[in-house]
Amino acid sequence: MSDFPPIASPVSPPEWPKSVFAESLTRHSGILELMDDLGEAMTTGRGEMLMMGGGNPGHIPEMQALWRGRMAELLADTPAFDAMLADYDQPAGNPRFRTAVAGLLRREFGWPLGPENIAVTNGGQTAFFCLMNRFAGDFADGSHRRVLLPLVPEYIGYADQGVGRDLFSARRPAIERIGDREFKYHVDFENLAPGDDIAAIAVSRPTNPSSNVLPDAEIARLSAVARERGIPLLIDNAYGVPFPGVIFEEVTPVWDDHIILTLSLSKLGLPGTRTGIVVAREDIIRELSAINAIASLANNNVGQALTTPLMESGEILRLSRDVVRPFYRAKSEFAKTLLHEHLPAGAPWRVHRGEGAFFLWIWFENLPIPTRELYRRLKARKTLVIPGEYFFFGLDTADWPHSRECIRLSYTQSEDIVRRGIATLGEEVAKAYR
Ligand SMILES: Cc1ncc(COP(=O)(O)O)c(C=O)c1O
Repeated sequence: MSDFPPIASPVSPPEWPKSVFAESLTRHSGILELMDDLGEAMTTGRGEMLMMGGGNPGHIPEMQALWRGRMAELLADTPAFDAMLADYDQPAGNPRFRTAVAGLLRREFGWPLGPENIAVTNGGQTAFFCLMNRFAGDFADGSHRRVLLPLVPEYIGYADQGVGRDLFSARRPAIERIGDREFKYHVDFENLAPGDDIAAIAVSRPTNPSSNVLPDAEIARLSAVARERGIPLLIDNAYGVPFPGVIFEEVTPVWDDHIILTLSLSKLGLPGTRTGIVVAREDIIRELSAINAIASLANNNVGQALTTPLMESGEILRLSRDVVRPFYRAKSEFAKTLLHEHLPAGAPWRVHRGEGAFFLWIWFENLPIPTRELYRRLKARKTLVIPGEYFFFGLDTADWPHSRECIRLSYTQSEDIVRRGIATLGEEVAKAYR
């Protein structure tokens, strides 16, 4: 017999009304679905699901060995190891790490930076959460301001970051068709027209999902617009140079007083360390430090401890250029070859030019079903991709079929997974066009 009295008839728990914050951050979001799919595929469903959805970095043997070696060095260095685990860092990040990153960027690009221009956050995602809500939303004077996304499709992870309503004002791109099977997006400057409510301009470069890299000329024009308007240009450099270097075009990274640049250690193979880096004016760094202190006291310092010597020596540049970039470039080429092998030759599919990041962005023009349905059919066959609809936010897409005709396919997993996944995709696309 149980020692406990029988439980009385179940009473449904009271509804707890949600604050605006809770309403905003708990609704169904594309990023939650994506991270749930990714988490399942990487844990309980490992070996079962063909994971071509999320942006998990590939496991690059040379980089994995490097991180294990660095961890062994830290373990052998008792004071450093104990400090890493047992001490909170300052809310803006570890001073030695911030100095090392500022020094690297100064040496490499000549930017006038010191540690006071660098803040660490718990991932680039958190950096953007703070920045988006720092610049846009409801203001004390009753006004409402928004972030201009000059080119959607844009990173799904921004879509639901607003604490409150209506954070974005987005624009459609100009689409350049290249040959029979490729295309490239450009910022449509004719239709950019930032309204008076625009508080910042934001882009990811390389862009997740499309693999687009905004050329120097487009960045220069966006930078000029931001400067003229007295607002910041936010550039999300999660995949770019100088690290992790997952960019296949020669472009010039930029920073200036009115530019806020974010970097991340994730795509170097350290997503578990949750380390984002913000490069900005000193006052913005102080603000981020204040937000960090309130929201999380301090950052995870494991990634900083692992990479500080590589930042100081500049070795991170060599690794990005000679190890990380070729790894992903080869994967991108391999996946593209498979598309040509498996997608129906008679269908009007095109792939965005592969210029960086981890993805193929495929456009199935006049696809008779929305790509959400294609996603469901593929998931039923244990193949995960991301339907493109999620990446078109901040604008009305009702009369824009293109926004329902694209999918994002990640090629970071093993050749076997990518091969089987693209073969299944080919079969489902052929059925859909029939
Ligand atoms: C464009 C872009 N920005 C930011 C992030 C966030 O990365 P993390 O928070 O791991 O630094 C990602 C992750 O996939 C991304 O693709």
